Amino acid sequence: DKGKYRHFMLKEIFEQPNVVAETLEGRVVDHQVYIETLGENATKVFEQLDAIQIIACGTSYHAALVAKYWIEHYLKLPCLVEIASEYRYRETAVLPNSLFVTISQSGETADTLAALKKSKDEGYLASLTVCNSPASSMVRESDLTLLTRAGAEIGVASTKAFTAQLVSLLLLMISIGKAKGMKSSIEHEFVEALEHLPHEIQLALDQAKELEKLSGAFAEKHHTLFLGRGQQYPIAMEAALKLKEISYIHAEAYAAGELKHGPLALIDKEMPTVVVAPNDNLLEKLKSNVEEVRSRGGSLFVFADKSANIQASNGITVFPVDSQYAITAPMVYTIPMQLLSYYVAVIKGTDVDQPRNLAKSVTVE
Ligand code: F6R
Repeated sequence: DKGKYRHFMLKEIFEQPNVVAETLEGRVVDHQVYIETLGENATKVFEQLDAIQIIACGTSYHAALVAKYWIEHYLKLPCLVEIASEYRYRETAVLPNSLFVTISQSGETADTLAALKKSKDEGYLASLTVCNSPASSMVRESDLTLLTRAGAEIGVASTKAFTAQLVSLLLLMISIGKAKGMKSSIEHEFVEALEHLPHEIQLALDQAKELEKLSGAFAEKHHTLFLGRGQQYPIAMEAALKLKEISYIHAEAYAAGELKHGPLALIDKEMPTVVVAPNDNLLEKLKSNVEEVRSRGGSLFVFADKSANIQASNGITVFPVDSQYAITAPMVYTIPMQLLSYYVAVIKGTDVDQPRNLAKSVTVE
């Protein structure tokens, strides 16, 4: 039932504050993370592990890429991320004491499941799935399970499942960190950010009307470029995927530092550029990337924290995002990206919930 919403996708976008709260329920108590279903066995595995391999497809792959930034930054553990269809068909070199992680909304994606089965003969410490479907094949085939609790997702384009994956991966990162002696002050900081996340997502949702207005600038275009840096680069990738899937506008994501290495040649007034700005040590670099695009006549749409102090000017539209905590910024910035794609698709009149040629669960390769 779509309730008051025109599409399931919009309903699912608006469910995200609850989905985050649901995913945290019972797992964050007294400023501490404890995931009951992972239990003793998981703690033993986490103590021993020296590396993490994550496998997924599509949107779930983008969640994995964000987790890589977190795991390498905060845990100093090597984290390899690969799409399942590549991993399953090649000879791989497994790092010693690695944990094999799959991420999947459906738990039935053929390539991810095949990669999981292949991993069993490859010498991993254990397999863990971050999954939204409790009764799925991936849950059955994995040693450990972390459920994302997004509820059933009907829209083919994944939205709330992605946010729930990011929240779960952050909980997983903290759980591994604890087994490896993470300082409780750092754990408390992350928990504080997670506890504020439903509210920050709600603030982003409250801007839906403004995003609807902004979407008109994209609907007539044939291409869009998305730029990000650091942990926001995968968010730019996810934004580009969402726009292509539901509006059929060709969209590409680039790490902003790659502009000069090719994509700058594409910039003209017919190619809008969306920037997902981080509010961290990469912000100054990103500002110069924005200038590179502007000076070549491109129109820019910069999503940035109010404190980032990026000025709107000729060719630059600034869209403020309230995001107080660096660690959860990827989840918060995801919301305006989802809403933007949604409203562009609505203007174009595409079948938002059932995009052409796509299936919700890809059980054949
Ligand atoms: C994009 C989308 C797909 C899925 C991909 C993996 O909106 O929905 O890219 O993310 O097919 O599906 P799961 O997560 O079920 O393995």
